[in-house]
Amino acid sequence: MNQIQGDIVDASAPIANSTPTVRVKIENLCKDFRTSKGVTNAVQNVSLDIQRGEFVTLVGRSGCGKTTLLRMIGGLLAPTSGTVHVDGKELWRNGRVDSAAIARLGFVFQDSNLLPWFTVIDNIALPLKLRGVSKAERRERATTLAGLVGLAGFEHSYPRQLSGGMRQRVAIARALSTEPDLLLMDEPFGALDALTRERMNLELQRIVGETESTVVFVTHDIPEAVFLGDRIVHMTPRPGRVHQTVSVDIPKPREVIVQTGQEFNEIVRDLRTALDQDG
Ligand SMILES: Nc1ncnc2c1ncn2[C@@H]1O[C@H](COP(=O)(O)OP(=O)(O)O)[C@@H](O)[C@H]1O
Ligand SMILES: [Mg+2]
Repeated sequence: MNQIQGDIVDASAPIANSTPTVRVKIENLCKDFRTSKGVTNAVQNVSLDIQRGEFVTLVGRSGCGKTTLLRMIGGLLAPTSGTVHVDGKELWRNGRVDSAAIARLGFVFQDSNLLPWFTVIDNIALPLKLRGVSKAERRERATTLAGLVGLAGFEHSYPRQLSGGMRQRVAIARALSTEPDLLLMDEPFGALDALTRERMNLELQRIVGETESTVVFVTHDIPEAVFLGDRIVHMTPRPGRVHQTVSVDIPKPREVIVQTGQEFNEIVRDLRTALDQDG
């Protein structure tokens, strides 16, 4: 990508890319929650274009609306106002989601949410089962995916027999089972120890590279956001808004060693300073 290194750019500015295809177009998106304590402006006037194949990381303090934004992009939560277009199709109409628009979407949550009585293969294949894919085809695709996420040999294990990192790999494989090319990930590695997390970042980068997916990835770990992101979207709370977006022009695939580089550390430092001011 032809971006200025570590430059802070306007959220709505087009990326200087040879194929600027917008995958997800978010315009003036708002979400208010009404409770007995009043109204929370969880997301206010967020506009963002996510390009095909782009890896966007969302960072910001707890409560700044990251999960709410992701759920609206993922068809799980209806916006109060504003629009989301996925591949040019409007996702929400009158509070109802266009199921065709989310057909190629995969969601990974912080908790792997596996079914404890299902094996690795059966957990991975669950979305295929729900779509009526035949047992033989499900098994074949789930076995391939288990290999892709580094779980070959564990196909018939149960979740309780796996480490936290392995369970998250199952969740990723399950999200990939329907061959989504838009992946939404909400702090998927938040519960993992630092070393496992680092390994998972490398794995995810490899998988996304192989599947050429577009990714929106929420994290409150700034180095993780910089390591994975082509672009970092920094949100601020009350109301939840996009404060700035930062492009990371370190070539991909990135190796762990880039984290010792000057460019990487400058971006991390600037983001930390900005986040510290969020209050
Ligand atoms: N279902 C809900 N009902 C009421 N308030 C909510 C609900 N979900 C989120 N919120 C509020 O919206 C704001 C943004 O929440 P969230 O999107 O979860 O933030 P983040 O993921 O950045 O931590 C917070 O103030 C939170 O308390
Ligand atoms: Mg959240």
